[in-house]
Amino acid sequence: MPMIFRKMRDEDLDAVYNIEAASFSDPWLREFFEMELEYDSYVVVRDEEIAGFICTMQVLDECTVTNISVRPELRRQGIAEYIFKCLYEIMDDRDVRYYYLEVRASNQAAFELYRKLGFSQIGLRKDYYHNPVEDAIVMTMTRKTG
Ligand SMILES: CC(C)(COP(=O)(O)OP(=O)(O)OC[C@H]1O[C@@H](n2cnc3c(N)ncnc32)[C@H](O)[C@@H]1OP(=O)(O)O)[C@@H](O)C(=O)NCCC(=O)NCCS
Repeated sequence: MPMIFRKMRDEDLDAVYNIEAASFSDPWLREFFEMELEYDSYVVVRDEEIAGFICTMQVLDECTVTNISVRPELRRQGIAEYIFKCLYEIMDDRDVRYYYLEVRASNQAAFELYRKLGFSQIGLRKDYYHNPVEDAIVMTMTRKTG
């Protein structure tokens, strides 16, 4: 099934917000996504539908992943890995080497995804998340460049 990775656009926001609301107990407000349109936020389109998204912030050679989600019924099909592969292509061209992100301590699926992608834990932010209150695991990955 061919997939397209492209910048998030205004007309994607309904679908993106629906995925967000179906994915998190403390979802971002829709306005956050409106602001994200200014930054490095991308969607994956499959069968002409938004299958997932990623929001990132780049500062010099660092990229922080602030949000990522895949439509619940499309999970475990390699879409998140595809999202990261496409993100790396964009960030490699900008000489970005260092990646950072936070994940809820109980979010095994995301933690395993990041481990598979080569991220490792560098810290813990106590009680960082709400609804329910939970620690955030801080992870990082340094991109090997040829
Ligand atoms: C985390 C998430 C983005 C993964 O998306 P996905 O498209 O299902 O992931 P992929 O199919 O690309 O999986 C890649 C790898 O991640 C790991 N993984 C993904 N889902 C997993 C699960 N439920 N349990 C254990 N490992 C999992 C596996 O290592 C997997 O590789 P494998 O299938 O060869 O074993 C998805 O579960 C999701 O949207 N969750 C809700 C939102 C969220 O938690 N975002 C992260 C916030 S920090």
